[in-house]
Amino acid sequence: MTRYLHLSAFMAALLFATAAGAVEPRSGYDFLPPEFQAMQDDPFENPGMFTVDLGRELFNAPGDDGTSCATCHGADGEQLRPARIARYPVFSPKLNGPVTLQKQIDLCREERMNEFPLTYDDPSLVALETFVRHRARGEPVKVDVSGPMQPYYKEGERLFRTRIGQLQMACSHCHEQYTGAMLRDQLLNQAQTNAFPTHRLLTQDISSLHRKLRDCFATLRAMPFQPGSEEYINLEVYMNARGNGLPIETPGIRR
Ligand code: HEC
Ligand code: HEC
Repeated sequence: MTRYLHLSAFMAALLFATAAGAVEPRSGYDFLPPEFQAMQDDPFENPGMFTVDLGRELFNAPGDDGTSCATCHGADGEQLRPARIARYPVFSPKLNGPVTLQKQIDLCREERMNEFPLTYDDPSLVALETFVRHRARGEPVKVDVSGPMQPYYKEGERLFRTRIGQLQMACSHCHEQYTGAMLRDQLLNQAQTNAFPTHRLLTQDISSLHRKLRDCFATLRAMPFQPGSEEYINLEVYMNARGNGLPIETPGIRR
């Protein structure tokens, strides 16, 4: 049975809420109405495919020195291996920290194509990321958070479970304890990351994961961090790993 909640009732309930245990990961797809699922599944109907196509063009286009992503990764990225994409973020000994997929793409540009680095979430990086993740569609997420990734994973989990903002709520309240309940007219999902970047129907554009994190921080009336910030990177490490085993679905459709 679906539970309907208003924010006030919701917050009252939270006063008595206790920490929930780990649950089986479920994709946000499972919480979508059937017409959204159909749109996501059909490449001719999915408007996120425009961003995939834009990413493909950028991928194949040579830069100033004649090198393109395709020079090393094959035309249309056919030599990219889905299993390698699904393991991001990975630990970089050189940077002594986690590297997200989007950051890896920018590092390839900077170090291997002599391009200037772009700002995190620059539209062309988001398009390239969307294209690359789309290539790995269906591949199960597999982030290794043992070893040097542990502290970043732990820090991301701490943030996910800490009450923030004027509403003094934690991500886990909506996305763990109340998963499956209606908040106003929205069905609460587990906040899984496997469909990102996602196409948002309300704004008719693509949303990177870090942009969605900003949105959820704003919902809680908390000061958002910048895309590419340590906090969002740690959240990405934790959230991707907590969805280990879910298939990559980029580009997902959301409202
Ligand atoms: C000169 C060769 C070269 C170019 C050009 C290049 N890359 Fe890479 N790329 C690499 C290498 C080598 C790795 C493995 C890096 C590692 O694991 O440390 C890599 C890793 C990656 C990965 C992670 C998945 C994997 O297979 O390890 C992605 C995604 C990626 N590159 C995308 C791009 C994109 C997008 C561009 C263009 C903007 C690009 N690369 C340009 C050589 C290149
Ligand atoms: C008051 C409840 C609430 C809280 C607390 C909350 N969110 Fe959300 N979140 C939502 C709703 C509602 C949606 C679904 C709407 C949508 O599709 O964007 C959502 C969607 C998401 C999604 C997208 C999942 C998908 O499948 O597309 C992510 C990621 C996310 N939230 C992250 C967070 C993080 C991180 C926090 C803590 C900083 C947080 N949320 C806190 C209500 C909340």
